[in-house]
Amino acid sequence: MLRYIQNLPLGQSPTAGELAAIGASIYRQFFENVAGAQQLNGERKEPAGSLLEGFDAQPSNQAEHIAATADDVWIFGYGSLVWKADFPYIDRRRGYVCGYKRRFYQHSIDHRGVPERPGRVVTLLPGDVALDRVYGVAYRIAAAQKAQVLGHLDYREKNGYERFNLQFHEYPAATMPIEVIIYMATQANDSYAGHVWQVPCIARQIFTSAGPSGPNREYLFNLSIAMRQLFPDVVDEHLAELVHCVQALIEQEEPALLERAIGEEILSVLHAALDKQQGEQQQQLELELVKRLEALRQRLQAPGTREKLLSQQLQRAAQQTDS
Ligand code: BEZ
Repeated sequence: MLRYIQNLPLGQSPTAGELAAIGASIYRQFFENVAGAQQLNGERKEPAGSLLEGFDAQPSNQAEHIAATADDVWIFGYGSLVWKADFPYIDRRRGYVCGYKRRFYQHSIDHRGVPERPGRVVTLLPGDVALDRVYGVAYRIAAAQKAQVLGHLDYREKNGYERFNLQFHEYPAATMPIEVIIYMATQANDSYAGHVWQVPCIARQIFTSAGPSGPNREYLFNLSIAMRQLFPDVVDEHLAELVHCVQALIEQEEPALLERAIGEEILSVLHAALDKQQGEQQQQLELELVKRLEALRQRLQAPGTREKLLSQQLQRAAQQTDS
């Protein structure tokens, strides 16, 4: 990088236009690949094998056999638990609960978002018992592990979710219903977000959010992939519309938004390096600039930076439209 910087005309107090040209050149040389939609943070790809392949063959995730007892409990997952259960279980089944609709109506400030930019995750809304079904996965928890698993999930879902009991029906062939524990965020909780229910608005929030568990879009796409694999003949319209909208944002808006955001970051690095090294040797300026550009590159690759930049750009565009 230093060799390239040494060849830039930085010496004689460049004008704003010259700085913009230098910034554009640095962008093309060192940052263009960082701006590619898939490069920042990396995206989880569709797994090579189907979730279904191991589903029935490996119904337990325990190394030792643990016999089922009447004191076991079942937990029903309709969000991230569909593709990943981070607790011990001794059996699992695909199926559905009746009378509810799955909606991305809950803010996530601790998993797929942060308090300043909450993400969106699923909860259930009451629906029509005869018409509405929510498909997901029920996990059997051995009696001896019940307290530990429920304690873990109560903590994990502390942002507004409460436990309820419902009847679960197995898919594709219905058997006797099973009583399951389900975590649901009611409309009374502080993080309920269903007052903004329009799919394009939710999609934009997902597009611009990330949290300690990763990008919000990854949660959406993983759920959609898992649902397609586990329930190939079931259509969840709300989920499908969201996937369509977020994918369109990624393909049609993200590259230009990131290019603009990173261009602005490079310009501010240029200004900061020039200000700091005013009156110093040219060589000092070049070293300072390289140091700052490397730090910028690191920052751009940190989890959540992409979403933060996208959010800032969209906010700025909205403000400009308003004024
Ligand atoms: C889940 O299925 O991952 C889930 C959804 C809401 C609360 C807890 C877990």
